[in-house]
Amino acid sequence: MTNADFEKIVDTNDEWIVSRTGIKERRIAPPDMAVSDMAVKACQRAIDASGLKNEDIDLLILGTVTPDYKLPSAACVVQEKMNLPNATAFDIVSACTGFINGLSIAESFIETGAYKNIIVVGAEKLSSITNYTDRNTCVLFGDGAGAAVLTAADDGSGIQSTFLKSNGNLRELLWIEDGGSAHPIDENYEFKGRHQILMNGADVFKVAVKQMCNSAVKVVNDAGIDPSEINLIIPHQANIRIIEAIAKRLKSSMDKVYVNIDKYGNTSAASVPIALDEAFKEGRIKPGDYILMVAFGGGLIWGSALIRW
Ligand code: ACO
Repeated sequence: MTNADFEKIVDTNDEWIVSRTGIKERRIAPPDMAVSDMAVKACQRAIDASGLKNEDIDLLILGTVTPDYKLPSAACVVQEKMNLPNATAFDIVSACTGFINGLSIAESFIETGAYKNIIVVGAEKLSSITNYTDRNTCVLFGDGAGAAVLTAADDGSGIQSTFLKSNGNLRELLWIEDGGSAHPIDENYEFKGRHQILMNGADVFKVAVKQMCNSAVKVVNDAGIDPSEINLIIPHQANIRIIEAIAKRLKSSMDKVYVNIDKYGNTSAASVPIALDEAFKEGRIKPGDYILMVAFGGGLIWGSALIRW
């Protein structure tokens, strides 16, 4: 869906969208494609690339705010669709930080020996919760999925440090008010757009810049490296201006920052793993590289991870 497509449905224009967000296009899943379908494709490609077999996976962690159903988890649907007979599977609801939170959980499980081969996937069908009459939000979001397989390494590569934080006091800056147990949608419910994404963009923007910058600095310091040693920064793709602010705070040139927001918009939990995959396939990640991932989303919640490839 291009900016020109949005010009036909809301009062907006390409110049506003590109200058305020950096977005030119987003991918929209067809009506009969659920989050689990996108997640299956990403997970299968990740498992195949890892050299493992589906039977080797013992845990699947799926970050999403758009599961197929309220019950069961989308992770259990994915498990059935791609046949992971030896795994347990669960969702995490951490909005745009879903992949980073998943990485951190996977790291802990691998360290304790509880699970050996873990797949972490971020998948979202944000088009299913977007209000296409609200120009403040609808131009921002897209659909997608990305996944990674994690397993133990003894050569110093892998996750060097992670940082997770949230502030539930700010939840009403970015939320879906209705449709949960607090405000169920029953036979008397009146649809007024409050069952779809509601966002105070300007306030979210301020917190996002501050906390993504702090999160990025924190994991770099915790890992004991100098910011100049980072080879690639992979930020959550929410807004090009937020991404540029992170680069500035780390005194990094934009050459070291991976950006694909122009093609996908904000895909929430899928954004970081899609960018990671594209960066790898474009040859921008080499063994030994330090990769900084940082994300921010509804909760409000934020986090970061520093990995050595
Ligand atoms: N086209 C044209 N005009 C628009 C559009 C649009 N699509 N959207 C808003 N405007 C208007 C507003 O109505 C406002 O008009 P007004 O001054 O007459 O009231 C004007 O543009 C300025 O609006 P602002 O909100 O101040 O614009 P801003 O520069 O803040 O950009 C944006 C808005 C892009 C939403 C920005 O605030 C942002 O990126 N916020 C952060 C979003 C984010 O990071 N979300 C977190 C992750 S999402 C998740 O967790 C699922």
